[in-house]
Amino acid sequence: MARIGVIGAGYVGLTTAACFARLGHEVVCADVDAARVEALSRAEVVAHEPGLPELVAEGVRAGRLRFVLGNPEALGDADFVFLCVPTPTGADGAADLAAVHAVLAQARDAVRPGCVLVLKSTVPPGTTERVAELVGRDDVEVVSNPEFLREGHAVDDFLRPQRVVVGAPGSGSGSRSGSRSGSGSRSGSASRSGSGEDAARRVVALYEGTGAPTLITDSASAELVKYASNCFLAMKLSYVNSLAELCERVGADIADVTEGMSLDDRIGAAFLEPGPGWGGSCFPKDTRALLSAAEEARVDFPLLRATIGTNGHQARRVVDMVRDAVGPLRGARLGLLGLTFKAGTDDLRDSPALAVAELLAEEGAHLVGYDPCVHRDCGPVRVLGSAEAAAAGADGLVVLTEWPEFAELDWPALAGAMNRPVIVDTRNLLPVDKVVEAGFRLVGIGRGATAA
Ligand code: NAI
Repeated sequence: MARIGVIGAGYVGLTTAACFARLGHEVVCADVDAARVEALSRAEVVAHEPGLPELVAEGVRAGRLRFVLGNPEALGDADFVFLCVPTPTGADGAADLAAVHAVLAQARDAVRPGCVLVLKSTVPPGTTERVAELVGRDDVEVVSNPEFLREGHAVDDFLRPQRVVVGAPGSGSGSRSGSRSGSGSRSGSASRSGSGEDAARRVVALYEGTGAPTLITDSASAELVKYASNCFLAMKLSYVNSLAELCERVGADIADVTEGMSLDDRIGAAFLEPGPGWGGSCFPKDTRALLSAAEEARVDFPLLRATIGTNGHQARRVVDMVRDAVGPLRGARLGLLGLTFKAGTDDLRDSPALAVAELLAEEGAHLVGYDPCVHRDCGPVRVLGSAEAAAAGADGLVVLTEWPEFAELDWPALAGAMNRPVIVDTRNLLPVDKVVEAGFRLVGIGRGATAA
């Protein structure tokens, strides 16, 4: 079992730390946020992440998981150090690597000979290679191990990942040929240093017990797998959102169109649901960072620009739908159902629901809202304790997050409590028959309006 340091106790760092402790490793998790470290030391997890509080409590109780304020202790004693610090959007859309650089500057003199520094933060292609040179120690390896967990499924995704990808710095020549190595594992062969590849194998071994297929490759490829995956998913969503708009114009139903598409297993069913736009802590910044990396490499990537541009237009389109359904927005009282960027998380970072709310407020609407995981007011939205409270006296409801419980609401009671029973469902989540039967006019996305 290894001694692991994890730097950053956010969504990714905390999940990494707790899951490695579950896999039997000895983990020290560091953060610069004193309140967070204090709470975690008492095994208190604030984020809404199923199974994570239990795992943190288990690790702390077993003495395999400790939280510390500041990084030296987590760096000094570890065989492996995982960097899980933020890489937000910086100048011109490029990833801001200040936190990564700050940690590496500390690590340079603090880590023991033989230590492997692992970049789990999402970083642009070429970063691992460059920072390995900056660290500049022959006795320390730096590898890339991007994280693919989904918020709301983080523990499951970490303990039963669909893939573990590890990249070691190579010569950057780009020449490669794939070869199978071991069951379910694949090793590409860009020209890498033997010690880098050995370090990559040791990182893969930490995941033993998860049964994940693994790919060992050069670090630029590993870094790109992460961006390429997120941007591909964002592209699917932008594509389906444009299709939904077309459906409305030509009288088609997006649900039937995407169902028909998904019967082709070359396409699949995932990420074909239209919505108010994609958001969250990853897609917006990762699409911009990949575009910036492409521009820096002088590669024109119009598909990615269109993916981002299409999404930028989506919140405005939802506001148009609401105005069409409800009438003039100035002075209208609207109840927003769902504020987080997707169901299953309390994360509000870059939530499309909040982008829609800002635009509605700009047009003079009074906004109240309900979200099962949000308990404080958000921007222009006064947050109430139930969907019923959000509906009382409202001129319209707008479903913005796909929380399953919204499909089970008491529609006759809601209709009775509203000023005008109108719903715009940007997730096509609601049971059309029941809602319409209760007296609502229901406007879905990509399928037009339904009324009794
Ligand atoms: P987060 O914001 O939830 O957590 C980051 C943590 O790092 C915070 O607790 C912060 O206090 C701490 N921190 C910042 N600077 C530090 C420093 N110098 N030393 C020690 N701690 C420091 O961020 P999150 O969401 O965990 O993301 C981390 C990285 O993982 C990003 O690069 C992100 O793109 C990537 N990622 C995020 C996923 C997600 O679903 N949130 C999924 C996959 C990758």
